Amino acid sequence: MVYVTRKCHFSASHRLYNPEFSAEKNEAIFDKCNNFYGHGHNYVLEVTVAGIPDPETGYVIDLKKLRDIMEEKIIEKVDHKHLNYDVDFLQGIIPTAENVAIVFWQILDLNIKSGKLHSIKLYESENNFVEYFGEPVTIKRQNVSHQPQPEFA
Ligand code: NI
Repeated sequence: MVYVTRKCHFSASHRLYNPEFSAEKNEAIFDKCNNFYGHGHNYVLEVTVAGIPDPETGYVIDLKKLRDIMEEKIIEKVDHKHLNYDVDFLQGIIPTAENVAIVFWQILDLNIKSGKLHSIKLYESENNFVEYFGEPVTIKRQNVSHQPQPEFA
C-alpha cells in the first residue's frame, strides 16, 4: 500500500459554544474560543489516500485530481468564511477541529474514486491538530434556528 498526501491551507473563523449550555457554562468550557464574534485560524488540511499504484499510470491517485477535489468540495466553501454561519455542511455543529475533520471526511470520501481515503489531518495551529481515520462516529447537529446571530451595528 502506498500513502499519497495533498496538503492545503485555508483561513476561517469560528466560535465554539453549545446553545444548550448557559452563557456561564459555555464560558467555562470554551473560554476564549467562546468569544461572541468568533476568532480566526490559519488551518492546514492534509488528506491522505491509500492504494496500489495503477500499473499503467503509476498513480494511486493523480494528485492534481486530489487537489481539485479538495479545492472544489472543501477549500472554496470554507476559505475566508465563518464556519458557524457561512458553510452549509457545517450548520448546527460545534466547529471544533474534531467535528470539522469528520465532516470533511464524509465529503471527501464520497468524491475520491481512486485509492481509498486513509486519513485527514486538520491543523488549527502549528501545535494543535486532529487526525481522523474514518471510524464511524456521530456528530450532534443543533437546530440552527437556535443559533444566536451576531448583531452588527
Ligand atoms: Ni478556535
